[in-house]
Amino acid sequence: MEVEAASGSAGEIRWSKLGTSLPVANVQALVASGGELTADQIERYIQPDIDAHAVLPEHSGEVPVIDLGNLLSPEFVEAEVAKLRFACAEWGFFQVVNHGIPDEVITCIKHDIQKFFQLPLEVKNAYAQRPGDLQGYGQAFVVSDDQKLDWSDLLALFAQPTQGRDMSYWPSQPHTFRNSIEDYSMELMKLAQTLNVFIAKTLDVAPELLADKHVAQFLRMSYYPPCTSMPEKVLGFSPHSDGSFMTILLEINSVQGLQIRRSGAWIPVKPRPDALLVNVGDLLEILSNGKYKSIEHRVTINAHKERLSISAFHVPTYGGIISPILGTIEEKVLYKAVGVEEYARLYFANKLEGKKALDYAKLSGI
Ligand code: OGA
Ligand code: NI
Repeated sequence: MEVEAASGSAGEIRWSKLGTSLPVANVQALVASGGELTADQIERYIQPDIDAHAVLPEHSGEVPVIDLGNLLSPEFVEAEVAKLRFACAEWGFFQVVNHGIPDEVITCIKHDIQKFFQLPLEVKNAYAQRPGDLQGYGQAFVVSDDQKLDWSDLLALFAQPTQGRDMSYWPSQPHTFRNSIEDYSMELMKLAQTLNVFIAKTLDVAPELLADKHVAQFLRMSYYPPCTSMPEKVLGFSPHSDGSFMTILLEINSVQGLQIRRSGAWIPVKPRPDALLVNVGDLLEILSNGKYKSIEHRVTINAHKERLSISAFHVPTYGGIISPILGTIEEKVLYKAVGVEEYARLYFANKLEGKKALDYAKLSGI
């Protein structure tokens, strides 16, 4: 038993060593310096395809809302499971209300993330990403010197399982931060396991089949500074789908920015302070044989207001394999089985380009 646990955690420790990101300018500091950016600096942030698809704010209120209280109630569970199935199949995104995470846990993590990003650059840089590691304060997915850059800074931490943590990246300022990350992380693991049971129900499979899909958790705290001079030309996060099994997002300060791809257009997601936003990741798309879609999303930038968020990427055990679970024997297999480690390597090696990493898992002819 002990031997197993030890080798398991050795695997999980390798999670954050799966990729690296080249160091680039700190965007918050660039904005704070107040001066005009040089033409060369601006060029690296201007995104050419920002207007390639229509933005439809009139649909922003339609993102499905799932009530966890209803899922846990014998009286309402069936109807709510049907809603959850619809949300996963038709939207790939849903808001969870009555999620059961204590208010003080949410308040503390929000407060501490805001405080952290307000610290002077040199204090934050004590936790800077080191080469060959995905954790730390910096930027993600910068793989070449000429690619377009996102208008954001981030702090990434590997949080679960706890044996895989590298505490040298965990800020000790504000002084309550480590505790609030710990509490939030634990609460999300519980929530993910609860959601898992119901996602299994929507797929008509035994919950045990999904039990090992939320073993590891990465946290990404993002700071999207305002961009006064050209907000409509930059992106806080380029279009991508998440390489996780499932992602749980908390909007820290209710500034709208996230947009999801739907029917060829972008739908802005209205922040809901009482909810957590959950999305289907690439690995759940594979497991569900494409019944549930890992939807592309991006983050736009506000001219005057900063935006902050925390994403929790829930991923299966490091050495695991994800393969499609079929509903019936007639169902055609659309994805190949992929090793979790292999998929993560591929995901992190590429600049985010829509759902490119997922193409690798698709069987030819679809
Ligand atoms: C992500 C992501 C969106 C946001 O971290 O993968 O899509 O609103 N974040 O910050
Ligand atoms: Ni994402």
